[in-house]
Amino acid sequence: MHPITGAATLAGVIGWPVAHSLSPRLHGYWLHHHNIDGAYVPLAVAPNNLEVAVRGLSAMGFAGANVTVPHKEAVMALMDGLSETAQRIGAVNTIVCRDDGSLFGDNTDAFGFFSNLSAGAPSWMPNRGPALVLGAGGAARAVIAALMDARVPEIRVVNRTAARAEALAEEFGTSVVAMPWAARGEAAGDVGLLVNTTSLGMTGKDPLDMPISQCPDDCIVTDIVYSPLETPLLSAATDRGLASVDGLGMLLHQARPGFDAWFGRLPDVTPDLRAHMMVALADA
Ligand code: ATR
Repeated sequence: MHPITGAATLAGVIGWPVAHSLSPRLHGYWLHHHNIDGAYVPLAVAPNNLEVAVRGLSAMGFAGANVTVPHKEAVMALMDGLSETAQRIGAVNTIVCRDDGSLFGDNTDAFGFFSNLSAGAPSWMPNRGPALVLGAGGAARAVIAALMDARVPEIRVVNRTAARAEALAEEFGTSVVAMPWAARGEAAGDVGLLVNTTSLGMTGKDPLDMPISQCPDDCIVTDIVYSPLETPLLSAATDRGLASVDGLGMLLHQARPGFDAWFGRLPDVTPDLRAHMMVALADA
């Protein structure tokens, strides 16, 4: 293990519950790999303690923290400054404590999604055609922000609750189009990218019923669900001969900017890290 001295840099992940979080394993790997005098710890913070806990980060000399379920939206109001991306997504997943004690909130999920997609499907071109996004929750907002930044010409959103997809389209602008959940098969007919942002297909959740027979042969299929790593959607894509990108990489890539801000080094996502995190997933 790397040493933790009295001068160690501190960061952690705020969640409730937090015991399931893989982030301590992830940051712990990088701290060890780079031999950094630092620690990254789970911070179990109940909703009624969120404000005092977040303010306590600076008070206790933390460099910052990640924020996970259920605090990502509520924590926004406690920030002294917000990145433009966090404002657009409407959630904070990364807090940086500045030297003057003020708190800066960022959201690195869009970066994580896009970096994972670029690494896993280098042939994908944003202008290849429309993208189809399944779901309209918090994860969908980050994916849509990333696809808009990449200048995907049209982003179709389908969601079980139509009003949520419509509200997203209204908010994000004309390149985002809401379509009925029942039309998801036809909506995939000319897309260059299909993204599942719902929790369907996750271990213990209902299966995702997404017909992909109509997807073009060069369509890339990606899932933000990473447990199981090969979701039924991804294995159906493989059976159909489509390239696919699993969701574990999004988790790994979204963590990089925070590590850089707190510990001063932009870490890499390597095959060895993935192998390490697959063991962590199996243990979880
Ligand atoms: P997150 O922040 O992880 O995106 P969320 O805001 O709860 O979580 O969103 C979950 C997404 O999965 C939503 O799009 C949700 O659809 P609704 O808006 O209709 O709730 C979708 N989802 C969850 N269970 C579903 C199911 N059984 N069938 C279809 N969609 C489902």
